[in-house]
Amino acid sequence: MTAKKNGKILIVDDDLSISRSYQKYLESEGYLVQVAENGEEGIKKVEFDRPDLILLDINMPVKSGLEMLEELRKKMGQFTPLTIMLTAYGDLDGAIKATNLGAYDFLTKPIPLEKLRLSVKRGFEKISFSEQVAYILDEEDTPFKSSIIGRHPSMIEVYKTIGALQGNKATVLITGESGTGKEVVARAIHDTAAKGSPFIPINCAAIPENLIESELTGYVKGAFTGANTDRDGKLEAVKDGTLLLDEISVTPLEFQAKLLRIIQEKEYFPVGGSNKKIFNGRIIASTNVNLKELVECGRFREDLFYRLNVVSIELPPLRDHISDLDLLVLYFMKKVNSNMNSSVKSITKEAVDYLKTHRWPGNVRELENAITKASINVKDRVLTRDSFNFLERESGSGKDDSDQRSKSFFDLFGELVSLKDIEKKYIEHVLANTGWHKGKTSVILGITRPTLDKRIEEFGLTKDE
Ligand SMILES: Nc1ncnc2c1ncn2[C@@H]1O[C@H](COP(=O)(O)OP(=O)(O)OP(=O)(O)O)[C@@H](O)[C@H]1O
Ligand SMILES: [Mg+2]
Repeated sequence: MTAKKNGKILIVDDDLSISRSYQKYLESEGYLVQVAENGEEGIKKVEFDRPDLILLDINMPVKSGLEMLEELRKKMGQFTPLTIMLTAYGDLDGAIKATNLGAYDFLTKPIPLEKLRLSVKRGFEKISFSEQVAYILDEEDTPFKSSIIGRHPSMIEVYKTIGALQGNKATVLITGESGTGKEVVARAIHDTAAKGSPFIPINCAAIPENLIESELTGYVKGAFTGANTDRDGKLEAVKDGTLLLDEISVTPLEFQAKLLRIIQEKEYFPVGGSNKKIFNGRIIASTNVNLKELVECGRFREDLFYRLNVVSIELPPLRDHISDLDLLVLYFMKKVNSNMNSSVKSITKEAVDYLKTHRWPGNVRELENAITKASINVKDRVLTRDSFNFLERESGSGKDDSDQRSKSFFDLFGELVSLKDIEKKYIEHVLANTGWHKGKTSVILGITRPTLDKRIEEFGLTKDE
């Protein structure tokens, strides 16, 4: 790092002949230098000229160096210029006081010019380093009050909708790419409107298709093989709270018809039972698939879609509200520090600027993971541009490279091949990308789950561990 060009220095010393010789020397080194004869004049010059660095004699008439530094600290706090004390030999007491006042370095008179040059140079290195820091975490900072972070207009719209849901039990549809915060928003709706009652999230893709209904409504003894006792479902357990049906897009059409009835009638029967039950909670559905498209290709009931879509919240991908990245980075630095007991203190501007150029296909979740990963290997408690090198390795240049992507897909084959070969490769590709999530895979491929199972068997596909 080089010394700051034209950095401003103020020399405060009652011995003018010494000040002048330092001034001449430091000016020849490229700095802009002012002098003052005592603490009082020094303070005026600091206020007027805003030097970057002060060379401050301790013993002076009218106002001493210590008094001047103390006054500056009171007035300017952390914006006090970096201060190097010029002390008389053996003035230990003065040195201790100056340290307590935050002086950066001490030079004992008489000062060889080379020593002066080095200390000033190091001082400016420190200044330019701290200028590069974008954010410093302060333990005293007030903690984030909300669990949803963001001030972009699209996020403000989200908050407004959450607010409007306070006095009712309207059904809500939350859409957005993976990792955009759909579950966070569902929880916020619940916390605003029904705190104290249960919040139950169900991942529809994780439940076998034929068990989804009974999971919700419960069942009576003997309703199906294995139903050895009566059992309450989630609709019962959630009471007047909130049921989140995550990945609603993968549910079978027959279940969608039942769900529509529950939402409309606010009542249901357990599987195999004839005792009507009342539901007075709220249902929130979420999905990262475009439901409208599924409706068009007959894989999602249109009537249910419109019923769910009465109140809808569309969460923007992170790249569309990248101005929120600064706040999110700070939030996750704090979160990581408290969850993992790490001690990240700051992040450089260069790092934040770099994070803003990344495409974030995994959205806020990917950002959180990146901050966590970088914090584990942090050096000197500062996150730098290099702390995030892994992002480049994980996603090529991190920029939009769809050209490259389509090329690499056909590169997989090397030569011209049959449609069957492409089908096999493509199914394998989607399975790998969804982490062998068969529900999601069949939605993406536009085929039913039994068809997917048949293909997996036919092509002999297996999950790599
Ligand atoms: N606006 C936000 N403010 C703070 N944290 C957020 C925000 N959005 C997302 N997160 C965090 O990102 C992670 C992913 O969020 P969430 O689980 O809500 O995403 P999702 O949209 O449900 O993703 P998926 O579709 O993959 O289920 C969580 O750790 C969450 O705390
Ligand atoms: Mg989710």
